[in-house]
Amino acid sequence: MTYNGDSKIGDLLANETTKALLEKHLPGISTNPMIEMAKGFTLTQLGALPQAGIPVDTLDALLADLGGVASEENPTHAAPASESPKPTASIGAQVAVVTGAGSGIGRASSLKLSEAGFKVVAVDFNSVTGEETLSLMREQGGEGLFVQADVSKEEDVERYVKAAMDTYGRIDAFFNNAGVLQKFTLLENLDVTEFDRILNVNVRGVFLGLKHVLKVMHAQGSGSVINTASTAGLRAEHSMSAYTASKHAVIGLTKSAAIEYVKKGVRVNAICPGGVDTALTQAVPAMMQESGYVPEEFPNMRMGRFADPAELAEMVVFLASSKSSYMTGSVIAVDGGLTL
Ligand SMILES: NC(=O)c1ccc[n+]([C@@H]2O[C@H](COP(=O)([O-])OP(=O)(O)OC[C@H]3O[C@@H](n4cnc5c(N)ncnc54)[C@H](O)[C@@H]3O)[C@@H](O)[C@H]2O)c1
Repeated sequence: MTYNGDSKIGDLLANETTKALLEKHLPGISTNPMIEMAKGFTLTQLGALPQAGIPVDTLDALLADLGGVASEENPTHAAPASESPKPTASIGAQVAVVTGAGSGIGRASSLKLSEAGFKVVAVDFNSVTGEETLSLMREQGGEGLFVQADVSKEEDVERYVKAAMDTYGRIDAFFNNAGVLQKFTLLENLDVTEFDRILNVNVRGVFLGLKHVLKVMHAQGSGSVINTASTAGLRAEHSMSAYTASKHAVIGLTKSAAIEYVKKGVRVNAICPGGVDTALTQAVPAMMQESGYVPEEFPNMRMGRFADPAELAEMVVFLASSKSSYMTGSVIAVDGGLTL
């Protein structure tokens, strides 16, 4: 074993050889008054902190030098012989899992995460559109894989998490996004089967994703989860009681997970899109025509337009990255002023 990006700053400073290498590449680091707070960080985590301002080239040169030092020199760092080596997390090699990646906000976010340097595990129920998203990512030079899965089935969720771990060995960001819109109706006419269909995907699917991905992030000691709620999670949408209930539940799950994992290095936030131009909203006129029912009120599009899915994806990338390092449990409306 040699020292690498997973080595703790405290361990590197405790060893004379590695301390000298730290000083060579980051002069003054061992006497910096802030270093006490960073001793529990790995070198990769420190490098990813914008406040640390470590150039990627400097980090790469330091890692190259550390690669030549046997970590057995420092007994606190040495891994037991039986422990399988952890894949090294280097900057620019982060891994994101995105559900609902075949369309709309999930596809746009997969592409933007890929552009930002993430390897993306794209998950969708629909294998045709999911594979299309993977092809689009590869066309722009990105790397990833597609896993066909129904997010409301636990065995499928376990399968997409396993695929990510088998291929990349870690999950740094999880966009827990797949969701479905209900048929508009007054609550008294809402079928139990329709109520169950909405809660099954929007709540059970989000819960199962959290359950299995948080286990991985807890073990890693790091990670960022972004759940897709909705402005319907912040207030009621007329004739959409099941959808409104489901998105309020997503916010409840977000806040619960955020407080449970805040001391485990894992952040959990939610985005609340307003109207976004996707297959989901494009289906609305046909849904109303089919049912013959028109809601008495519609959301107020204050900007006079729907959002482009890419406008949501920008927020997803920000929350997935260390640029949002002090945010957890936040519920962020990206809604063109709809909820004002
Ligand atoms: N479009 C909007 O105006 C809007 C507004 C607020 C919130 N949202 C939320 O944003 C998320 C994404 O919506 P979108 O507008 O991009 O919709 P979309 O219909 O364009 O994409 C949703 C994707 O999720 C997939 N999916 C649906 N059920 C699934 C399941 N059980 N398992 C796996 N994949 C499944 C679909 O195949 C589709 O590819 C949803 O949670 C939605 O509720 C959308």
